[in-house]
Parts: sequence; C-alpha cells; structure tokens
Amino acid sequence: MNILLLGSGGREHALAWKLAQSPLCKGSGGTLYAAPGNPGIAQEAELVALDAGDHRAVIAFCEARQIGLVVIGPEAPLVDGLGDSLRAAGLAVFGPSRAAAQLEGSKGFTKDLCARAGIPTARYDRATALDAALTALDGHALPVVIKADGLAAGKGVVIAQTRSEAEAALADMFDGQFGDAGAEVVIEEFLEGEEASFFALTDGATIVPFGSAQDHKRVGEGDTGPNTGGMGAYSPARVLTPLLEGEVIERIIAPTVRAMKEAGTPYSGVLYAGLMLTRDGPKLIEYNARFGDPECQVLMLRLEDDLAELLLACAENRLAACAPPRFSPGTALTVVLAASGYPGVAKKGGRIDGLAAAELDGAKVFQAGTALCEGALVANGGRVLNVTALGASVREAQQKAYRAIDLIDFPDGFCRRDIGWREIEREAAAAT
Ligand code: AMP
Ligand code: GLY
Repeated sequence: MNILLLGSGGREHALAWKLAQSPLCKGSGGTLYAAPGNPGIAQEAELVALDAGDHRAVIAFCEARQIGLVVIGPEAPLVDGLGDSLRAAGLAVFGPSRAAAQLEGSKGFTKDLCARAGIPTARYDRATALDAALTALDGHALPVVIKADGLAAGKGVVIAQTRSEAEAALADMFDGQFGDAGAEVVIEEFLEGEEASFFALTDGATIVPFGSAQDHKRVGEGDTGPNTGGMGAYSPARVLTPLLEGEVIERIIAPTVRAMKEAGTPYSGVLYAGLMLTRDGPKLIEYNARFGDPECQVLMLRLEDDLAELLLACAENRLAACAPPRFSPGTALTVVLAASGYPGVAKKGGRIDGLAAAELDGAKVFQAGTALCEGALVANGGRVLNVTALGASVREAQQKAYRAIDLIDFPDGFCRRDIGWREIEREAAAAT
C-alpha cells in the first residue's frame, strides 16, 4: 500500500519513521510519500512538493499514485477541511473532518460541548466584542485565563494575574493580535494542578487509548520564561494513573465522542486531551485534533505495534476489531534542540553535525526545523531537533538523550537540561 503523510515537523518525522517500518507499506513493496517533509523525513519517505491547501492537487496526486491512506499531521489542514475533500474523493484519511476538527479549531465550540455533555472543565464565558468581554470578566476571580477562540499556533492563551492584564489581553485580541482567531474570545477560570496529556484513537464510535505524556512548555529550566510549542516531553505520564486514566476516558473522552456522533459530525482520528489534574479530579483544558509535537515523538518510540495498520483501521471505521496497541513499559523522553532566539525570532542557517554519532549511541534524532544547504544540515525553524531515547526508567531515558545531545554539534542551538525533572524527582522519592 502507498501512504501519503502531510506535514514537515518533528511529529511527522516520528510518524514517517514508524510508518516506514510497516509491513503494509514499504514492507510489501509500497511507497511512503511525504509532503512537504524535511531532510529527516526524506530518510524514510519520498518527498513530494504538494501544498496541503490545494485540495485538488492533493487528490490528483493520491489518484495518480494510488494512495491507500493519507495521514494528516498538523491541525491547519484539518480545520481547513482537507479531510472532507479527500474523503469525498473516496480516499482513506487519518484525521478528522472540518466539523469535527472544531474541537481544536474553536475553543468556544469545545467549551459549549463540555457544558452540554457535563464534561469537567473550567467555568467559562464566550464573547465576540470587547464590552461584552469586560462585562463577563466581572464574573471571574483572578487569576483568569483569556483565550483567542481560533487557531493561534499555541500563542493565543494569556493567564492574567490582574484585572488590567486581563483587560489588556482582551483589547489586544479584539485589536487583531491573533487575526481572525481572536475575533471571539473565551474567558475562563484558572485551574490549579499538574498538567498531563492523554491520547485516544477513535473512528467516531470505538475509543482506543493511545498513551499519555507530559511536556515542558516554558523555554527556561525549572519551567520558567516564555511559552513555547514544547521544549521536551516524556511518556508515559505516571501522574495519570490507570485509575485517573479510566476516569478521563469515562468522563471526558467518551462523552465527547458520543456528542460528536450524535451531532452528525463523528470525530475520527487522534483526540489529544490537554488535562489539568485538579483536587476535584481531571478536567479538560483543551482538545487538539492531531498528535502533539513533541509528544508524538515519545509515543512513537514506545509504540510496539504497526502504526499504519492502526491508522488505516481508524480511517476505515474498523477500530473495534483491532487489538489494543502495545507500548513499551519503559519511558521515552525527548529533548528539543532549538535555534537561538526561539521562541522569539529564531536564528536560521546554523550548521548541525554529529547526528550519526548521536544515533549510534542509542538515541533517535527526529528532525523538525531543518533544511539542507549545499549538502550540509542547517537550522530552518525554532525547534530544530528532537533527541529522543527510551529507557527502563525516566532517569535512564534522560541520561541517554543528553548523552546523544552532547554528541551533536550545533553551535547556534540550545536546549533545556532538565527535561523530565518532575518525574525524576518522583522516581527518586519512590526509590527511597
Ligand atoms: P491551551 O492552548 O489551551 O493548551 O493553553 C496553553 C496553556 O495554558 C496550557 O497548557 C495551560 O498551561 C495553560 N492554561 C490554559 N487554560 C488554563 C486554565 N483554565 N487554567 C490554568 N491554566 C490554563
Ligand atoms: N506540545 C503541544 C502541542 O503539540 O500542542
């Protein structure tokens, strides 16, 4: 079977690496294509220059190359309805429809669904104009969370400690700081607790748990400084105990899948729940309609089953007949090497060497923002590499990842040296 993977980041490199191992694809004479891909993905797949925004071009390519499965990596083409166009052309697609991707594309949509279905989440108000938003603000204690409704590349969330910060955030959003994404806002209660991510595959009816992870969003050590897309992650998130995981499925995931089905817009793909583990139990912070980046990298390192088979079963509504996916009981940990300046303006063009040595040492290096320049690998984005390792313990995975990082020569790059610290403290406490 031929597969087309869309996207170009570290998440897609990890997906490509796993898909390339499938007996369904390259293992039986098929080809894995990726568009637009990156130099790391090119090691696993044949790159094609396709624009995910040009639905007709993607369909024409799939028909010409007899693509048996299209895997859509990032959220933007999902929210843009690429899945609908491809399905209308009779193709098997991993990723939700435009209507179902609203779970990520509109925070207000998700909050309303939670309210209707009784799903635990922060108390909220929606507003489409500044004066209404300011009135709604009166009903919230501080700190308060202000969110642009639409996709804002992870930047549309402000945790305001004071009323004036909240007012300024609202004014910025209605002023167009996030473009159309901020034309509507959600004002919500600040939740206290530890964050964890939970993933489930669903074909609209069957729910298959697909692992947990925690990431480090802040750029600085000790979880300080500005927010980023994620400076590192590990899986599993042991704070999400089997008991809590059961509660998350029963009280959050299952009612969501049911509500989407009942609305006539079944959700098919991976549902990524950002959770706050509060004193009153797990609450939903937000949904994403795709795998997390870099959470996907750690999940793929732990997955012991055929990814292509699972994603195809999901696309073809056959998850009920699949055996539950098996994951390594160990911990996978990934450290992001970023280009200096990130999350502000990241320096492009910095040369990268030593990846082969890092991988010989037992780590897997997924490439995110990289490019080839006259035969040399260079930085081409904020988050550049995801150095990922599997260990029997968190500490072992962390040591392997940092050993590999120390073999990489990337003078313009930086990373946090404390990825996994929370879990390592817990591991150390449990051992004494
Ligand atoms: P989101 O884009 O919705 O995931 O928000 C980004 C980050 O903001 C989350 O990962 C949380 O750390 C934080 N956050 C969002 N909503 C809340 C909330 N209601 N209470 C506390 N923290 C929040
Ligand atoms: N790492 C967070 C995300 O993918 O949204």
